[in-house]
Amino acid sequence: MEKLELVFIPAPGVGHITSTIEVAKLIANLHRHFSVTILVIRPPGDVKPIPESSDPRLKFLELEREESSGPPAPPHLAFFRLIEEHKPHVRKIVGEMKGSSEIRLAGIVVDMFLTSMIDVANEFGVPSYLFYTSGAAFLGLMFHMQKLRDELNVDVTEFEDSDAEIVVGSYMNPVPTKVMPRAFFEKGGGGDHFISLAGRYRETKGIMINTFQELESHAIQALNNDEKIPPVYPIGPLMKLENNHNQNLECEIIMKWLDLQPDSSVIFLCFGSQGTFGKEQVKQIALALEKSGFRFLWSLRKPPPKDKLGFFAEEFENLEEVLPEGFLQRNAKVGKVIGWAPQVAVLSHPAVGGFVSHCGWNSTLESTWHGVPMAVWPLYAEQQANSFLLVKDLEMAVEIKMDYVIDYGSEKEDLNKVVSADLIENGIRKLMDSNNVGIRKKVKEMQEKSRLAIGEDGSSSASLKCFLKSVEDNISSSSSTL
Ligand SMILES: *[C@@H]1O[C@H](CO)[C@@H](O)[C@H](O)[C@H]1NC(C)=O
Ligand SMILES: *[C@@H]1O[C@H](CO)[C@@H](O)[C@H](O)[C@H]1NC(C)=O
Repeated sequence: MEKLELVFIPAPGVGHITSTIEVAKLIANLHRHFSVTILVIRPPGDVKPIPESSDPRLKFLELEREESSGPPAPPHLAFFRLIEEHKPHVRKIVGEMKGSSEIRLAGIVVDMFLTSMIDVANEFGVPSYLFYTSGAAFLGLMFHMQKLRDELNVDVTEFEDSDAEIVVGSYMNPVPTKVMPRAFFEKGGGGDHFISLAGRYRETKGIMINTFQELESHAIQALNNDEKIPPVYPIGPLMKLENNHNQNLECEIIMKWLDLQPDSSVIFLCFGSQGTFGKEQVKQIALALEKSGFRFLWSLRKPPPKDKLGFFAEEFENLEEVLPEGFLQRNAKVGKVIGWAPQVAVLSHPAVGGFVSHCGWNSTLESTWHGVPMAVWPLYAEQQANSFLLVKDLEMAVEIKMDYVIDYGSEKEDLNKVVSADLIENGIRKLMDSNNVGIRKKVKEMQEKSRLAIGEDGSSSASLKCFLKSVEDNISSSSSTL
């Protein structure tokens, strides 16, 4: 059989590339007549070397950037400008592949933010596909908002700060606009761009989603029933499961501490790479933990200085300066406060009984995979919508505050927005309550199903085969017409 090449273009940023590598590995390992090239776009200022591959059927190519002349893009469009600046080089690579006699370019797979690369696929008559790194329900929400705006002429920015609820096919319950990403409602450009992405998803020949049938059956069905949406292929959960936590001293200390705690007794609090809170909020979390009396492992980090590029959280030099006086000493027996957390390793430890999470999709899948129930405390992007899905539709999580939104722009903490210690304590009590059998049972069930899904006979493996079959069918039918 002839060798078929798929080109993946992930968005810049480690999260996107990591899941793309996982799907590329799956394809290259399991489907021998496919090979994959991943085109890497670097975020500005990034100097880390691009990943290397020892597998000849999986290659990485770094894209060169052609800086555009003219005035700099306004901040909300800077990302899209950056993508545009990589287009000429993508064009060059795709052109060379098309002309090659050694490989057959079967398709270009773009990331959820890289739809403008569909143009390049079209120029060369190559089919384009989408790899969607969030869940099916949220994909359905993006399509729904795009349809409201473009087909039904609704001014969706009107929903900003409203108490409206919208019936969306991919969710079982009407979705409050308060749990939708702020980006939908931004006036003057940013939101428009975000919603327009979904319009372009419709041009692709198929959509791979990092989810699995058993988790999001309702949403997947809804997407499949809509003939204006390309076929969707749930192929997840895609996770990096290598355990390399023992290589690092900090990880070792954390794991040793967990080893000393009883099974399912520890609450793990971790809010992702951008998860930070103001001083008053930190205090309320501390009060809640102390009052609840539960054991806890708390990943507590601070915002980067304002003048620094990027928004990734940093480590406190001295935790005492942000925690209530004496907190660390009083709770030394039951709790541990850490900086960066080896999340997957922690979630896999039997001592962990609950996860207070920002509900990034990635964390959601990891928690499910390890059978740890969550208490939702979203911060930004589509995390509020994920939280809503988990609490209301899937009944797999309890609520701390589903419509919390972090305010990155402001210098000062908005005290009106601080989630009170009472509310937090209430949430973690529900999370750790052993009588809360419904949620625990559901999570354990999904844990088992997530593992079956990517097994040899699982739904996601079958779905990936279907996807590759459709890629092959397209290529073979277009060659017979030549
Ligand atoms: C998941 O998220 C974590 C933390 O943000 C990140 O380190 C990791 O690379 C992500 N994994 C995938 C598969 O995207
Ligand atoms: C294959 O993809 C190309 C490019 O998108 C498209 O023009 C063509 O109709 C597709 N063929 C089939 C059989 O789907």
